[in-house]
Order: sequence, then structure tokens, then C-alpha cells
Amino acid sequence: MRIAVAGATGNIGSFTVAALEHEGHDVVRISRSLGVDLSTGEGLDEALHGVDAVVDATNAPPLDEAATVAHFGRITGNLLAAEARAGVRHHVLLSIVGIDRVGGNAHYAGKREQERLVAEGPVPWTIVPATQFHDFAAMVAGWTESDGVATIPPLLVQPIAPGDVGDVLAEVAVGEPQGRYADVAGPDPQDLVDMARRTLSARGHTVKLVPTWAGLFGPEMAGPVLMPGEDARIAPTTFDDWLATAS
Ligand SMILES: NC(=O)c1ccc[n+]([C@@H]2O[C@H](COP(=O)([O-])OP(=O)(O)OC[C@H]3O[C@@H](n4cnc5c(N)ncnc54)[C@H](OP(=O)(O)O)[C@@H]3O)[C@@H](O)[C@H]2O)c1
Repeated sequence: MRIAVAGATGNIGSFTVAALEHEGHDVVRISRSLGVDLSTGEGLDEALHGVDAVVDATNAPPLDEAATVAHFGRITGNLLAAEARAGVRHHVLLSIVGIDRVGGNAHYAGKREQERLVAEGPVPWTIVPATQFHDFAAMVAGWTESDGVATIPPLLVQPIAPGDVGDVLAEVAVGEPQGRYADVAGPDPQDLVDMARRTLSARGHTVKLVPTWAGLFGPEMAGPVLMPGEDARIAPTTFDDWLATAS
């Protein structure tokens, strides 16, 4: 099959490209650095020529809620319209578990807008909600790190390896559209503070971590709001396995 990956140079997009190519599919890579901009539509019609399915693993820069919703709305609308023109038969969106259970988070509001446009859009679709990635804790600490100190919310998560997310997206993309897919998660619940401490330690990076609900993730995210549903698809790679090989 000929499959386009939007966000092909990113964390999950690059694993998705690798998984699809491993199975012998013809992969079209989409990202601004490769000359295709979903915000403007530049290069998009050419990129989607002859494409059967599209995986959307793009991201948004940190913006306020209105700007994030506008950003995801623009790139998703442009992508879906181009897919309809090209006769693409399946749109696969990478989303996040639990975004309907949490208000006040700009990124989640943007992802909800993406989901709405996909579900109401012109192309048959599958939405794949994933839990936080194994590298999420260190990334969050990095957002506030200054003079050797970083804040981190004590979130309860059940993180998943980026490579496992790429494998699921590649598998879903070559199948029939399924609507809302099961939550996709890693094998074990984790505390985000502990994950950050262990990841930074494995990287030999000394940072004092300050657990707090002040910041982008507030107390409305305490408890099991980000945990996968009971029918979740559980991916194989544990946080410990990932830490030992990829941190
Ligand atoms: N982090 C988590 O724990 C987590 C958990 C579940 C789901 N997610 C979701 O996973 C998705 C992917 O995250 P990620 O960390 O893999 O993203 P990432 O590493 O930041 O990669 C984003 C990709 O999108 C491309 N891109 C951005 N704007 C674009 C545009 N206007 N036109 C074309 N390409 C564009 C980037 O390439 P260029 O810069 O070259 O354009 C890059 O290839 C996000 O939507 C996020 O909500 C994240």
C-alpha cells in the first residue's frame, strides 16, 4: 500500500514510517522540513497523489487554548480536504487517552478539535487514543528546567513506548477504518515524578524535581483520569525495558 505519514520526522511519526517500511509499504513522508506544510497546504496535493491511507502524527507548538484549537483545526482541515481530493480511503489520527475527562489543558482542547473534525470529516477514519509516551516525563521536566530545578506534576499514567505506538499506527493504517479504536497503553501504571527522576538519572542529568500541580497539569488531573479503559490494547514494552535501551 501507499501510505502517507504526516509528522514523519517526529517522535512517533519516525517509528510509524519504520514499521510501515519494514512491512514493505510505500511511505510518503510529510513534514515542513520535507517541504510539505499542513498549515498552508503547500506541497500537500502532490504528496497525497496515489495514497491509500494517511497517518496523522503531527503536533502543535505550546500555545494558549484558542491558538492551539485554531492550529490543530487548520492543519487537520487542510489535511482532510486534500485527502478527499486525492481519494484517500482511510485517515488514522493519533490522539490521547482521557482528553474528554479533563478541561483546562490547551493541548487537549486542540486534540478534541482534531477528533471532532476527523469524526465529522469526509474520509473514513480510525482514531487511536494512546497514553503518555515513556519519554513524556523527562520532556515535561524539560519545559520548566532552570538552574538545575524543574517542576513536575505527580500524574498517574500508564505510559507506552514510542516504538509500540508506531507499530500500532502502522498496523491500523493498513486495515479497514474502525472509528474509535481501543485505548492503547503500556503494561504498567507509573508515577510521573518517579519516571522523570529515573529517566534523568539514566541520562546522567542532575535535576532537582519539585512535584507540584501548579503549571500546565493541575489538580483536575489527579487520580485515574489519564488511565486507559478496561478494554485497552496493552503494548509489550515496559518502562524499565525502554529505560534500559532508549532513554
Ligand atoms: N507526548 C505524549 O506523551 C503523547 C501521548 C499521546 C499522544 N500524543 C500525541 O502524539 C502526537 C505526535 O507527538 P510527537 O511527540 O511524536 O510529535 P513531534 O515529535 O513533536 O513531531 C511532530 C511532527 O509533526 C511535524 N509537523 C508539525 N507541524 C507541521 C505542519 N504544519 N506541517 C507538516 N508537518 C508538521 C513535525 O515536522 P516539522 O517540524 O518538520 O514540520 C514533526 O515531524 C501529538 O499530536 C500528541 O498530541 C502525545
